[in-house]
Amino acid sequence: MANKMWGGRFGQKPDPLMEEINASIDIDRKLYRQDIAASKAHAAMLAKSGIITAQDAKKIAHGLDTILSEIEAGKFAFKRALEDIHMNVESRLAELIGPAAGRLHTARSRNDQVATDFRLWVRDAIDAIDGALAAYQRALAERALQHAATIMPGFTHMQTAQPVTFGHHLLAYVEMAARDRGRFADARARLNESPLGAAALAGTPFPIDRAMTAKDLGFARPMANSLDAVADRDFVLEALSAAAITATHLSRFAEEIVIWSSPLVGLIRLSDRFTTGSSIMPQKRNPDAAELVRAKSGRIVGALLGLLTVMKGLPLAYQKDMQEDKDGAIAAFEALALSIAAMTGMARDLEPDVARMRAAAGEGYSTATDLADWLVRAIKLPFREAHHVTGRIVAKAAEAGVTLDRLPLPAMQVIEPRITKDVFGVLSVDKSVASRAGYGGTAPKNVRAQAKSWLKRLEREGFSAQAQRPSR
Ligand code: ARG
Repeated sequence: MANKMWGGRFGQKPDPLMEEINASIDIDRKLYRQDIAASKAHAAMLAKSGIITAQDAKKIAHGLDTILSEIEAGKFAFKRALEDIHMNVESRLAELIGPAAGRLHTARSRNDQVATDFRLWVRDAIDAIDGALAAYQRALAERALQHAATIMPGFTHMQTAQPVTFGHHLLAYVEMAARDRGRFADARARLNESPLGAAALAGTPFPIDRAMTAKDLGFARPMANSLDAVADRDFVLEALSAAAITATHLSRFAEEIVIWSSPLVGLIRLSDRFTTGSSIMPQKRNPDAAELVRAKSGRIVGALLGLLTVMKGLPLAYQKDMQEDKDGAIAAFEALALSIAAMTGMARDLEPDVARMRAAAGEGYSTATDLADWLVRAIKLPFREAHHVTGRIVAKAAEAGVTLDRLPLPAMQVIEPRITKDVFGVLSVDKSVASRAGYGGTAPKNVRAQAKSWLKRLEREGFSAQAQRPSR
Protein backbone atom coordinates (compact mmCIF):
# COMPACT_ATOMS: atom_id res chain seq x y z
CA MET A 1 0.00 0.00 0.00
CA ALA A 2 1.25 3.48 -0.82
CA ASN A 3 0.39 5.01 2.58
CA LYS A 4 -1.16 3.22 5.47
CA MET A 5 -3.23 6.23 6.59
CA TRP A 6 -4.89 7.00 3.29
CA GLY A 7 -3.37 4.70 0.68
CA GLY A 8 -6.55 2.75 -0.05
CA ARG A 9 -7.07 4.21 -3.50
CA PHE A 10 -3.42 4.91 -4.28
CA GLY A 11 -1.31 2.61 -6.43
CA GLN A 12 1.98 4.51 -6.46
CA LYS A 13 4.25 5.83 -3.76
CA PRO A 14 4.65 9.60 -3.62
CA ASP A 15 7.51 11.24 -5.49
CA PRO A 16 10.33 12.18 -3.09
CA LEU A 17 9.63 15.81 -3.95
CA MET A 18 6.01 15.33 -2.94
CA GLU A 19 7.17 14.12 0.42
CA GLU A 20 9.58 17.02 0.73
CA ILE A 21 6.99 19.71 0.04
CA ASN A 22 4.19 17.95 1.91
CA ALA A 23 5.87 16.99 5.17
CA SER A 24 5.43 19.33 8.11
CA ILE A 25 6.85 17.08 10.81
CA ASP A 26 10.06 19.12 11.18
CA ILE A 27 7.89 21.98 12.42
CA ASP A 28 4.70 20.51 13.85
CA ARG A 29 6.59 18.02 16.03
CA LYS A 30 6.68 20.97 18.44
CA LEU A 31 2.94 20.42 18.88
CA TYR A 32 3.38 16.91 20.28
CA ARG A 33 2.15 17.77 23.77
CA GLN A 34 -0.99 19.46 22.50
CA ASP A 35 -1.61 16.70 19.95
CA ILE A 36 -1.45 14.02 22.63
CA ALA A 37 -3.62 15.98 25.07
CA ALA A 38 -6.28 16.52 22.39
CA SER A 39 -6.20 12.85 21.39
CA LYS A 40 -6.61 11.76 24.99
CA ALA A 41 -9.60 14.07 25.40
CA HIS A 42 -11.09 12.79 22.16
CA ALA A 43 -10.65 9.12 23.10
CA ALA A 44 -12.17 9.64 26.55
CA MET A 45 -15.16 11.37 24.94
CA LEU A 46 -15.57 8.61 22.33
CA ALA A 47 -15.77 6.06 25.16
CA LYS A 48 -18.13 8.15 27.26
CA SER A 49 -20.41 8.58 24.24
CA GLY A 50 -20.41 4.83 23.58
CA ILE A 51 -18.59 5.17 20.25
CA ILE A 52 -15.59 3.10 21.32
CA THR A 53 -15.28 0.69 24.24
CA ALA A 54 -13.87 1.80 27.58
CA GLN A 55 -11.22 -0.86 27.15
CA ASP A 56 -10.02 0.56 23.84
CA ALA A 57 -10.05 4.08 25.29
CA LYS A 58 -7.88 2.89 28.13
CA LYS A 59 -5.40 1.27 25.77
CA ILE A 60 -5.31 4.41 23.67
CA ALA A 61 -4.70 6.63 26.71
CA HIS A 62 -1.86 4.41 27.95
CA GLY A 63 -0.32 4.26 24.49
CA LEU A 64 -0.48 8.04 24.20
CA ASP A 65 1.18 8.43 27.59
CA THR A 66 3.96 6.12 26.47
CA ILE A 67 4.43 8.17 23.31
CA LEU A 68 4.57 11.37 25.36
CA SER A 69 7.36 9.99 27.51
CA GLU A 70 9.19 8.63 24.48
CA ILE A 71 9.13 12.06 22.84
CA GLU A 72 10.17 13.83 26.01
CA ALA A 73 13.02 11.40 26.52
CA GLY A 74 14.17 12.03 22.95
CA LYS A 75 13.54 8.37 22.07
CA PHE A 76 10.78 8.86 19.53
CA ALA A 77 11.67 8.24 15.89
CA PHE A 78 9.92 10.97 13.91
CA LYS A 79 9.40 9.91 10.30
CA ARG A 80 9.09 12.35 7.42
CA ALA A 81 7.25 9.72 5.40
CA LEU A 82 4.48 10.04 7.97
CA GLU A 83 4.12 13.70 7.07
CA ASP A 84 3.06 15.33 10.31
CA ILE A 85 2.82 14.99 14.07
CA HIS A 86 -0.72 13.57 13.91
CA MET A 87 0.23 10.62 11.71
CA ASN A 88 3.54 10.06 13.50
CA VAL A 89 1.72 9.71 16.81
CA GLU A 90 -1.07 7.57 15.40
CA SER A 91 1.33 5.26 13.63
CA ARG A 92 3.40 4.74 16.78
CA LEU A 93 0.17 4.14 18.70
CA ALA A 94 -0.65 1.31 16.32
CA GLU A 95 2.78 -0.21 16.93
CA LEU A 96 2.22 0.02 20.68
CA ILE A 97 -1.40 -1.09 21.09
CA GLY A 98 -2.41 -2.71 17.84
CA PRO A 99 -5.82 -2.39 16.15
CA ALA A 100 -7.44 -0.29 18.92
CA ALA A 101 -5.25 2.59 17.68
CA GLY A 102 -7.30 2.68 14.50
CA ARG A 103 -10.39 3.68 16.49
CA LEU A 104 -8.90 6.93 17.76
CA HIS A 105 -9.53 8.74 14.50
CA THR A 106 -13.28 8.03 14.62
CA ALA A 107 -15.35 11.23 14.26
CA ARG A 108 -12.25 13.31 13.76
CA SER A 109 -10.13 14.62 10.88
CA ARG A 110 -6.65 16.04 10.81
CA ASN A 111 -8.35 19.32 9.92
CA ASP A 112 -10.05 19.78 13.27
CA GLN A 113 -7.14 18.01 14.94
CA VAL A 114 -4.52 20.46 13.71
CA ALA A 115 -6.77 23.44 14.42
CA THR A 116 -7.21 22.17 17.99
CA ASP A 117 -3.54 21.41 18.52
CA PHE A 118 -2.40 24.77 17.23
CA ARG A 119 -4.99 26.68 19.26
CA LEU A 120 -3.69 24.92 22.35
CA TRP A 121 -0.10 25.68 21.34
CA VAL A 122 -0.79 29.37 20.72
CA ARG A 123 -2.71 29.55 24.00
CA ASP A 124 0.32 28.13 25.84
CA ALA A 125 2.58 30.57 24.00
CA ILE A 126 0.35 33.48 25.02
CA ASP A 127 0.44 32.37 28.66
CA ALA A 128 4.23 32.10 28.59
CA ILE A 129 4.58 35.52 26.94
CA ASP A 130 2.23 37.04 29.50
CA GLY A 131 4.34 35.73 32.37
CA ALA A 132 7.51 36.98 30.71
CA LEU A 133 5.99 40.43 30.16
CA ALA A 134 4.98 40.58 33.84
CA ALA A 135 8.60 39.87 34.83
CA TYR A 136 9.77 42.56 32.40
CA GLN A 137 7.34 45.05 33.92
CA ARG A 138 8.52 44.16 37.41
CA ALA A 139 12.18 44.71 36.47
CA LEU A 140 11.33 48.09 34.92
CA ALA A 141 9.18 49.20 37.85
CA GLU A 142 11.91 48.28 40.34
CA ARG A 143 14.47 50.32 38.42
CA ALA A 144 11.96 53.16 38.09
CA LEU A 145 11.48 53.28 41.84
CA GLN A 146 15.24 53.31 42.31
CA HIS A 147 15.61 56.13 39.77
CA ALA A 148 12.46 58.12 40.47
CA ALA A 149 14.52 61.28 41.00
CA THR A 150 17.33 60.60 38.53
CA ILE A 151 17.16 63.42 36.02
CA MET A 152 17.82 62.84 32.34
CA PRO A 153 17.14 64.78 29.17
CA GLY A 154 13.78 64.07 27.55
CA PHE A 155 13.84 64.21 23.75
CA THR A 156 11.58 65.02 20.87
CA HIS A 157 13.07 64.81 17.35
CA MET A 158 16.15 63.42 19.19
CA GLN A 159 16.76 67.03 20.35
CA THR A 160 16.95 67.84 24.05
CA ALA A 161 13.42 68.91 24.90
CA GLN A 162 12.71 69.04 28.63
CA PRO A 163 14.23 67.34 31.65
CA VAL A 164 12.46 64.17 32.72
CA THR A 165 13.20 61.52 35.30
CA PHE A 166 14.77 58.23 34.29
CA GLY A 167 12.13 56.41 36.32
CA HIS A 168 9.39 58.13 34.33
CA HIS A 169 11.03 57.03 31.09
CA LEU A 170 11.20 53.42 32.27
CA LEU A 171 7.57 53.47 33.41
CA ALA A 172 6.52 54.46 29.89
CA TYR A 173 7.63 50.97 28.83
CA VAL A 174 5.71 49.42 31.72
CA GLU A 175 2.55 51.04 30.35
CA MET A 176 3.28 49.75 26.84
CA ALA A 177 3.81 46.25 28.16
CA ALA A 178 0.49 46.50 30.01
CA ARG A 179 -1.32 47.25 26.76
CA ASP A 180 0.59 44.42 25.08
CA ARG A 181 -0.61 42.04 27.77
CA GLY A 182 -4.13 43.33 27.30
CA ARG A 183 -3.99 42.58 23.59
CA PHE A 184 -2.72 39.04 24.26
CA ALA A 185 -5.47 38.54 26.83
CA ASP A 186 -8.13 39.68 24.34
CA ALA A 187 -6.71 37.37 21.68
CA ARG A 188 -6.66 34.52 24.17
CA ALA A 189 -10.31 34.99 25.09
CA ARG A 190 -11.41 34.82 21.44
CA LEU A 191 -9.05 31.92 20.73
CA ASN A 192 -10.41 29.83 23.55
CA GLU A 193 -13.08 27.84 21.68
CA SER A 194 -12.68 24.27 20.56
CA PRO A 195 -12.67 23.23 16.89
CA LEU A 196 -12.51 19.54 17.86
CA GLY A 197 -15.46 17.59 16.48
CA ALA A 198 -15.86 19.75 13.38
CA ALA A 199 -14.13 16.81 11.69
CA ALA A 200 -13.11 17.42 8.08
CA LEU A 201 -15.45 20.37 7.57
CA ALA A 202 -19.10 19.39 7.97
CA GLY A 203 -19.27 17.82 11.41
CA THR A 204 -19.80 14.11 12.02
CA PRO A 205 -22.70 11.67 12.15
CA PHE A 206 -21.33 10.10 15.34
CA PRO A 207 -23.04 11.18 18.57
CA ILE A 208 -19.97 12.98 19.93
CA ASP A 209 -19.94 15.38 22.87
CA ARG A 210 -18.05 18.45 21.75
CA ALA A 211 -18.74 20.27 25.01
CA MET A 212 -16.95 17.50 26.88
CA THR A 213 -13.73 17.68 24.85
CA ALA A 214 -13.87 21.48 24.92
CA LYS A 215 -14.10 21.50 28.69
CA ASP A 216 -11.44 18.84 29.08
CA LEU A 217 -8.98 20.90 27.04
CA GLY A 218 -9.74 24.09 28.94
CA PHE A 219 -11.72 25.72 26.14
CA ALA A 220 -14.71 27.86 27.06
CA ARG A 221 -16.99 26.18 24.52
CA PRO A 222 -16.99 24.36 21.17
CA MET A 223 -16.87 26.51 18.03
CA ALA A 224 -20.36 26.96 16.62
CA ASN A 225 -19.69 26.42 12.91
CA SER A 226 -17.76 23.41 11.66
CA LEU A 227 -16.58 25.15 8.48
CA ASP A 228 -15.30 28.11 10.46
CA ALA A 229 -13.71 25.78 13.01
CA VAL A 230 -11.37 24.18 10.48
CA ALA A 231 -10.87 27.24 8.25
CA ASP A 232 -10.09 29.84 10.89
CA ARG A 233 -6.58 31.03 11.66
CA ASP A 234 -7.60 34.35 13.24
CA PHE A 235 -6.30 33.03 16.51
CA VAL A 236 -2.76 32.91 15.13
CA LEU A 237 -3.12 36.24 13.34
CA GLU A 238 -4.38 38.01 16.43
CA ALA A 239 -1.66 36.60 18.63
CA LEU A 240 0.95 37.47 15.99
CA SER A 241 -0.42 40.96 15.74
CA ALA A 242 -0.13 41.39 19.51
CA ALA A 243 3.38 39.91 19.21
CA ALA A 244 4.32 42.33 16.43
CA ILE A 245 3.23 45.34 18.49
CA THR A 246 5.07 44.00 21.54
CA ALA A 247 8.20 43.42 19.46
CA THR A 248 7.94 46.96 18.14
CA HIS A 249 7.89 48.29 21.69
CA LEU A 250 10.87 46.16 22.68
CA SER A 251 12.69 47.33 19.58
CA ARG A 252 12.17 50.98 20.51
CA PHE A 253 13.62 50.39 23.96
CA ALA A 254 16.46 48.36 22.45
CA GLU A 255 17.21 51.24 20.11
CA GLU A 256 17.39 53.62 23.09
CA ILE A 257 19.81 51.27 24.84
CA VAL A 258 21.99 51.24 21.72
CA ILE A 259 21.96 55.05 21.55
CA TRP A 260 22.38 55.66 25.28
CA SER A 261 25.32 53.28 25.58
CA SER A 262 27.20 54.78 22.64
CA PRO A 263 30.32 56.63 23.90
CA LEU A 264 29.03 59.65 21.96
CA VAL A 265 26.01 59.79 24.28
CA GLY A 266 27.13 57.94 27.41
CA LEU A 267 23.89 58.02 29.38
CA ILE A 268 24.07 54.37 30.45
CA ARG A 269 26.52 51.54 30.77
CA LEU A 270 25.61 47.92 30.12
CA SER A 271 27.54 45.32 32.09
CA ASP A 272 29.81 42.76 30.48
CA ARG A 273 26.92 40.31 30.77
CA PHE A 274 24.95 42.04 28.04
CA THR A 275 27.74 43.27 25.79
CA THR A 276 30.22 41.61 23.48
CA GLY A 277 33.71 42.52 22.42
CA SER A 278 35.19 42.92 18.98
CA SER A 279 37.65 40.45 17.52
CA ILE A 280 39.77 43.30 16.19
CA MET A 281 39.06 46.43 18.26
CA PRO A 282 39.99 45.72 21.88
CA GLN A 283 38.19 48.78 23.28
CA LYS A 284 34.76 47.82 21.94
CA ARG A 285 31.74 46.95 24.11
CA ASN A 286 28.93 46.26 21.72
CA PRO A 287 25.26 46.20 22.78
CA ASP A 288 24.60 43.10 20.65
CA ALA A 289 21.66 41.82 22.69
CA ALA A 290 19.80 45.11 22.22
CA GLU A 291 20.64 45.17 18.53
CA LEU A 292 19.34 41.63 18.10
CA VAL A 293 16.10 42.44 19.91
CA ARG A 294 15.74 45.36 17.51
CA ALA A 295 16.33 43.01 14.59
CA LYS A 296 14.10 40.17 15.79
CA SER A 297 11.12 42.48 15.51
CA GLY A 298 11.63 42.02 11.75
CA ARG A 299 10.99 38.30 11.87
CA ILE A 300 7.98 38.76 14.16
CA VAL A 301 6.32 41.43 12.01
CA GLY A 302 7.29 39.29 9.00
CA ALA A 303 5.45 36.28 10.41
CA LEU A 304 2.27 38.34 10.73
CA LEU A 305 2.51 39.65 7.17
CA GLY A 306 3.41 36.19 5.89
CA LEU A 307 0.36 34.52 7.40
CA LEU A 308 -2.01 37.33 6.39
CA THR A 309 -0.78 36.78 2.85
CA VAL A 310 -1.24 32.99 3.08
CA MET A 311 -4.81 33.38 4.33
CA LYS A 312 -6.16 36.22 2.28
CA GLY A 313 -7.29 34.29 -0.81
CA LEU A 314 -8.32 30.99 0.74
CA PRO A 315 -11.85 29.73 0.14
CA LEU A 316 -13.51 27.71 2.91
CA ALA A 317 -12.75 25.37 4.44
CA TYR A 318 -9.34 23.76 5.11
CA GLN A 319 -6.69 24.24 2.42
CA LYS A 320 -3.22 22.77 2.63
CA ASP A 321 -1.85 26.32 2.44
CA MET A 322 -2.82 26.59 6.08
CA GLN A 323 -0.09 24.14 7.04
CA GLU A 324 2.25 27.11 6.43
CA ASP A 325 0.77 28.83 9.49
CA LYS A 326 3.14 27.22 11.95
CA ASP A 327 6.72 27.77 10.87
CA GLY A 328 6.74 31.56 11.01
CA ALA A 329 4.41 31.79 13.98
CA ILE A 330 6.38 29.36 16.14
CA ALA A 331 9.65 31.09 15.25
CA ALA A 332 8.03 34.45 16.00
CA PHE A 333 6.84 33.42 19.46
CA GLU A 334 10.24 31.91 20.23
CA ALA A 335 11.96 35.10 19.10
CA LEU A 336 9.55 37.19 21.17
CA ALA A 337 10.11 35.13 24.32
CA LEU A 338 13.86 35.46 23.91
CA SER A 339 13.57 39.20 23.21
CA ILE A 340 11.48 39.82 26.34
CA ALA A 341 13.92 37.83 28.47
CA ALA A 342 16.89 39.74 27.05
CA MET A 343 15.20 43.11 27.61
CA THR A 344 14.33 42.08 31.17
CA GLY A 345 17.97 41.20 31.74
CA MET A 346 19.16 44.50 30.31
CA ALA A 347 16.57 46.48 32.28
CA ARG A 348 17.91 44.92 35.48
CA ASP A 349 21.49 45.29 34.41
CA LEU A 350 21.94 48.73 32.88
CA GLU A 351 23.50 51.44 35.01
CA PRO A 352 22.67 55.04 34.25
CA ASP A 353 25.53 57.52 34.48
CA VAL A 354 23.60 59.74 36.85
CA ALA A 355 26.00 62.70 36.66
CA ARG A 356 26.18 62.58 32.88
CA MET A 357 22.39 62.31 32.62
CA ARG A 358 21.94 65.29 34.87
CA ALA A 359 24.46 67.41 32.99
CA ALA A 360 22.91 66.43 29.66
CA ALA A 361 19.46 67.30 31.02
CA GLY A 362 20.63 70.87 31.61
CA GLU A 363 22.20 71.21 28.18
CA GLY A 364 20.31 72.50 25.20
CA TYR A 365 18.34 75.07 27.28
CA SER A 366 15.99 72.34 28.36
CA THR A 367 14.22 74.60 30.89
CA ALA A 368 13.28 77.21 28.27
CA THR A 369 9.64 76.11 28.48
CA ASP A 370 9.78 76.62 32.26
CA LEU A 371 11.03 80.18 31.66
CA ALA A 372 8.23 80.89 29.18
CA ASP A 373 5.64 79.43 31.59
CA TRP A 374 7.07 81.65 34.38
CA LEU A 375 6.67 84.75 32.19
CA VAL A 376 3.03 83.83 31.65
CA ARG A 377 2.38 83.22 35.34
CA ALA A 378 4.51 85.96 36.96
CA ILE A 379 4.13 88.85 34.57
CA LYS A 380 1.05 87.77 32.67
CA LEU A 381 2.59 87.74 29.20
CA PRO A 382 0.53 85.91 26.57
CA PHE A 383 2.26 82.54 25.92
CA ARG A 384 3.18 83.44 22.33
CA GLU A 385 4.96 86.58 23.51
CA ALA A 386 6.59 84.69 26.40
CA HIS A 387 7.85 82.17 23.84
CA HIS A 388 9.43 84.98 21.81
CA VAL A 389 11.05 86.65 24.85
CA THR A 390 12.40 83.29 26.00
CA GLY A 391 13.86 82.66 22.57
CA ARG A 392 15.82 85.91 22.82
CA ILE A 393 17.04 85.00 26.32
CA VAL A 394 18.14 81.57 25.06
CA ALA A 395 20.08 83.28 22.27
CA LYS A 396 21.76 85.47 24.84
CA ALA A 397 22.71 82.47 26.99
CA ALA A 398 24.07 80.72 23.91
CA GLU A 399 26.15 83.81 23.10
CA ALA A 400 27.51 83.83 26.66
CA GLY A 401 28.06 80.07 26.56
CA VAL A 402 26.06 79.37 29.77
CA THR A 403 22.95 77.44 30.73
CA LEU A 404 19.76 79.39 31.44
CA ASP A 405 20.07 79.17 35.23
CA ARG A 406 23.62 80.64 35.00
CA LEU A 407 22.66 83.67 32.91
CA PRO A 408 22.82 86.76 35.17
CA LEU A 409 19.55 88.53 35.95
CA PRO A 410 20.59 91.87 34.39
CA ALA A 411 21.26 90.10 31.08
CA MET A 412 17.66 88.82 31.12
CA GLN A 413 16.29 92.20 32.18
CA VAL A 414 17.82 93.82 29.09
CA ILE A 415 15.31 91.74 27.14
CA GLU A 416 12.38 91.87 29.60
CA PRO A 417 12.79 94.40 32.46
CA ARG A 418 9.97 92.91 34.55
CA ILE A 419 11.87 89.66 35.18
CA THR A 420 12.84 89.31 38.86
CA LYS A 421 15.22 86.97 40.71
CA ASP A 422 12.22 84.72 41.38
CA VAL A 423 12.73 83.34 37.89
CA PHE A 424 15.65 81.27 39.20
CA GLY A 425 13.07 79.28 41.12
CA VAL A 426 12.06 77.53 37.89
CA LEU A 427 15.22 77.36 35.81
CA SER A 428 17.03 74.39 37.36
CA VAL A 429 16.36 70.88 36.09
CA ASP A 430 15.29 69.79 39.58
CA LYS A 431 12.67 72.52 39.81
CA SER A 432 11.56 71.73 36.29
CA VAL A 433 10.84 68.05 36.92
CA ALA A 434 9.41 68.66 40.40
CA SER A 435 6.92 71.14 38.94
CA ARG A 436 5.42 68.56 36.59
CA ALA A 437 3.43 66.97 39.37
CA GLY A 438 0.02 66.69 37.67
CA TYR A 439 -1.31 63.22 36.90
CA GLY A 440 0.99 61.48 34.43
CA GLY A 441 3.77 64.05 34.82
CA THR A 442 7.46 63.34 35.38
CA ALA A 443 7.83 64.65 38.97
CA PRO A 444 9.80 62.25 41.22
CA LYS A 445 6.91 61.94 43.66
CA ASN A 446 4.59 60.87 40.83
CA VAL A 447 7.12 58.38 39.56
CA ARG A 448 7.62 56.94 43.03
CA ALA A 449 3.86 56.52 43.48
CA GLN A 450 3.39 55.00 40.03
CA ALA A 451 6.31 52.59 40.42
CA LYS A 452 5.01 51.46 43.81
CA SER A 453 1.50 51.00 42.52
CA TRP A 454 2.80 48.91 39.60
CA LEU A 455 4.91 46.75 41.91
CA LYS A 456 1.92 46.17 44.14
CA ARG A 457 -0.31 45.28 41.19
CA LEU A 458 2.25 42.89 39.76
CA GLU A 459 2.75 41.23 43.11
CA ARG A 460 -0.99 40.74 43.60
CA GLU A 461 -1.28 39.36 40.09
CA GLY A 462 1.61 36.96 40.78
CA PHE A 463 -0.18 35.57 43.82
CA SER A 464 -3.46 35.01 42.02
CA ALA A 465 -1.66 33.44 39.02
CA GLN A 466 -0.04 31.00 41.42
CA ALA A 467 -3.39 30.19 43.03
CA GLN A 468 -5.04 29.61 39.65
CA ARG A 469 -2.27 27.50 38.13
CA PRO A 470 -3.95 24.27 36.96
CA SER A 471 -2.66 21.05 38.47
CA ARG A 472 -2.73 19.26 35.11
N1 ARG B 1 -0.21 18.82 8.60
C1 ARG B 1 -1.46 19.41 8.31
C2 ARG B 1 -1.48 20.89 8.72
O1 ARG B 1 -0.64 21.29 9.46
C3 ARG B 1 -2.55 18.69 9.01
C4 ARG B 1 -3.86 18.77 8.33
C5 ARG B 1 -3.82 17.98 7.08
N2 ARG B 1 -5.13 17.81 6.53
C6 ARG B 1 -5.30 17.38 5.32
N3 ARG B 1 -6.51 17.27 4.90
N4 ARG B 1 -4.30 17.11 4.52
O2 ARG B 1 -2.30 21.65 8.26
